[in-house]
Amino acid sequence: MPQSNDVKIRKTVFQDLEAVNAILNDAIANTNAYLSSRQKSMKDTEDWFRQHDTSIGYFAFSAEMGHLVAGWACVSPFRSIDGFAPTAEVSVYVDVLHRGKGIAGKLLEALENEARRRSFHNLISFITIDNETSLHLHRKHGFEVQGTLKQVALKSGQYLDVVVMAKLLG
Ligand SMILES: CC(C)(COP(=O)(O)OP(=O)(O)OC[C@H]1O[C@@H](n2cnc3c(N)ncnc32)[C@H](O)[C@@H]1OP(=O)(O)O)[C@@H](O)C(=O)NCCC(=O)NCCS
Repeated sequence: MPQSNDVKIRKTVFQDLEAVNAILNDAIANTNAYLSSRQKSMKDTEDWFRQHDTSIGYFAFSAEMGHLVAGWACVSPFRSIDGFAPTAEVSVYVDVLHRGKGIAGKLLEALENEARRRSFHNLISFITIDNETSLHLHRKHGFEVQGTLKQVALKSGQYLDVVVMAKLLG
């Protein structure tokens, strides 16, 4: 079975979007990672892609494994008010068939390097409290817990706590 050594991390391209969409929709349906129950259309995913065009400062990377997209990650605006521009929000998703191979770790490393190159000062991640894998992953990559937002989200009839984790790049 391929391991993460076989993974190439590169900029997300338009041809990746069907896989990006499928990976996100699977996580929406089966986890609390993305706090919505609504499946994303391809148009939603194309809009997301345009919002992560490197020319506007934000970006997305794909993990390519044997010509397939096994995962993706992005750096997105944290808040629209300009004073928050030094901070960006991180998201990372890996295909259920390829989890536990170190792919998310590689994606996070690549995101961080690119975020430093672009002079972001702080990366922030909002992680549902039951997502032990993601909490572990972020901790391993130097993110620190800043606090817990109690019952800020509602999914499948359940209020959920969200842990705020951040990494200062400065
Ligand atoms: C979270 C996610 C991106 C991790 O992807 P991945 O490629 O499997 O992650 P990696 O293989 O790089 O690392 C996973 C780490 O978590 C650990 N882990 C796995 N399950 C775990 C659990 N239940 N509790 C704690 N740690 C766990 C693994 O051992 C590994 O740690 P290690 O490198 O110290 O051995 C993936 O599970 C996923 O896409 N989940 C759904 C979407 C999601 O939750 N995204 C994050 C939103 S904040």
